[in-house]
Amino acid sequence: MDWSLRLAYDSDIPELEALIGRSVRELQSAYYSEAQMKGALGSVFGVDRQLIRDQTYFVAEKGGALIACGGWSKRLSLFGSDAARTGEDALLDPLQDAARIRAFFVHPEHARRGLARAILLACEDAIRAAQFRSVELVATLPGVPFYQAFDYQTGERYEVPLVNGLSLPVVRMSKNLVTPSNESPPD
Ligand SMILES: CC(C)(COP(=O)(O)OP(=O)(O)OC[C@H]1O[C@@H](n2cnc3c(N)ncnc32)[C@H](O)[C@@H]1OP(=O)(O)O)[C@@H](O)C(=O)NCCC(=O)NCCS
Repeated sequence: MDWSLRLAYDSDIPELEALIGRSVRELQSAYYSEAQMKGALGSVFGVDRQLIRDQTYFVAEKGGALIACGGWSKRLSLFGSDAARTGEDALLDPLQDAARIRAFFVHPEHARRGLARAILLACEDAIRAAQFRSVELVATLPGVPFYQAFDYQTGERYEVPLVNGLSLPVVRMSKNLVTPSNESPPD
């Protein structure tokens, strides 16, 4: 393995923004139009500084360059950069609510090498450690087969309105992390 995983810092933000742009424009181009990708970049697809502050956002680094990113959240928002949000993103209750998987983007030159897999497994470990029992996310169309490979179930498909008047088809997905063998016994 010639790359390593670590938590993201604020100082990564400019490089993260460039990585997200490159990932979207190349890896989503078979699924979304130029205009849809342009309308989504910066709002639907962008850095959420709250995840960096919460220490729930990971980056994969190779030779000092960021080649993938992704994270999880203990907050209400299901997607989007913090620039698109007004006010505080409310905290969830692990006993009642599902944690979120958020903002996975891989550099196109490093796709299908297991980078997103490694980040997803790190997120699921951290989500379990934070006592959440289930996970929800809103997947892009290219994201669907990736999450399906890790037993996420597909739910409703709907359209996210974009700043340029277009919309972006996305799919709700979820996964139960509690199996009968790791369920707490009744009191
Ligand atoms: C979706 C994305 C994050 C996957 O990243 P990745 O590092 O290439 O994925 P991995 O190599 O870890 O793939 C793990 C498994 O997921 C499945 N998978 C991943 N990409 C897939 C694809 N395009 N088609 C079908 N299955 C796919 C496969 O089962 C794969 O295992 P395999 O390579 O052994 O067959 C990446 O394509 C991406 O950044 N896309 C653009 C941004 C985006 O839309 N992000 C999703 C936000 S919800």
